[in-house]
Amino acid sequence: MIYYFSGTGNSEWAARTLARLTNDRVTRITKKTLAPVMIEEGETFGLVFPIYAWSLPQMVSDFLKNVSVHTGAYCYAVCTCGAEAGCAMRVLRSKVHMDGVWSLVMPDNYIVAYSVEDDQRSLEKVREANTRLQEIATHIRARESGCADVHVGKFAFVKTFIGGHLFNKYARSSKPFRTSYDCTGCGLCAKVCPSENILVADDMPFWSDDCQQCLACIHRCPKRAIEYGKSTEKHGRYVFHFAQDQIEGKG
Ligand SMILES: Cc1cc2nc3c(=O)[nH]c(=O)nc-3n(C[C@H](O)[C@H](O)[C@H](O)COP(=O)(O)O)c2cc1C
Repeated sequence: MIYYFSGTGNSEWAARTLARLTNDRVTRITKKTLAPVMIEEGETFGLVFPIYAWSLPQMVSDFLKNVSVHTGAYCYAVCTCGAEAGCAMRVLRSKVHMDGVWSLVMPDNYIVAYSVEDDQRSLEKVREANTRLQEIATHIRARESGCADVHVGKFAFVKTFIGGHLFNKYARSSKPFRTSYDCTGCGLCAKVCPSENILVADDMPFWSDDCQQCLACIHRCPKRAIEYGKSTEKHGRYVFHFAQDQIEGKG
């Protein structure tokens, strides 16, 4: 089974692509699926998630607390990131044994800090990720261990262990969320939130204090009516939307 966490669809696409290539199935990690998971001898445990501040999303760390893996299981992880994963896989390996770890560079969705890339650059990244997934799947099908190919980046230790800590402490507040008059109260933001952190009342969304910062609510709002402070106003929106034919250059 491949477990994935995803806000804007990059990691979901990677998980589904790997499932197709390795004849496996996928399960989305959300607050609802944080139940204990047992991985038995001979089974495969795949984990796909986005990098947040050179580390793991909090919900992935919470999910791993409930996972118990038999030493005879085959375990691997793929993270998706805009550029670099830092020491995230080292953090992961301190929590669970991994036979293989890989990163995929994909479109960056952190619009709190950066603008979204244009569609052409995004497609280039997705095409490269698609090629890389075919190679990764070969290693997984052969159940190879000792595989590690991660875009770590410079000053990774400091970024992960100081930046990651500061991010979790200060940058996951729900307070900066706000809606404009364009909000229709459709409730899609609440439906896509993996941590059930949004409540819609009187046709208005309200954010509680368990935000993962996946930004699914902002990126997926059909009216572009959600902002996070001032910083997201001019940074565009991104949701994985590429068709497989387009990725493979057939479309
Ligand atoms: C809160 C947050 C923090 C991020 N931090 C990093 C980072 O440290 N390094 C990086 O390369 N990309 C970073 N990104 C970009 C995402 O990892 C990347 O866009 C990922 O593919 C999104 O996956 P998803 O579409 O499955 O949600 C960050 C994105 C978010 C929302």
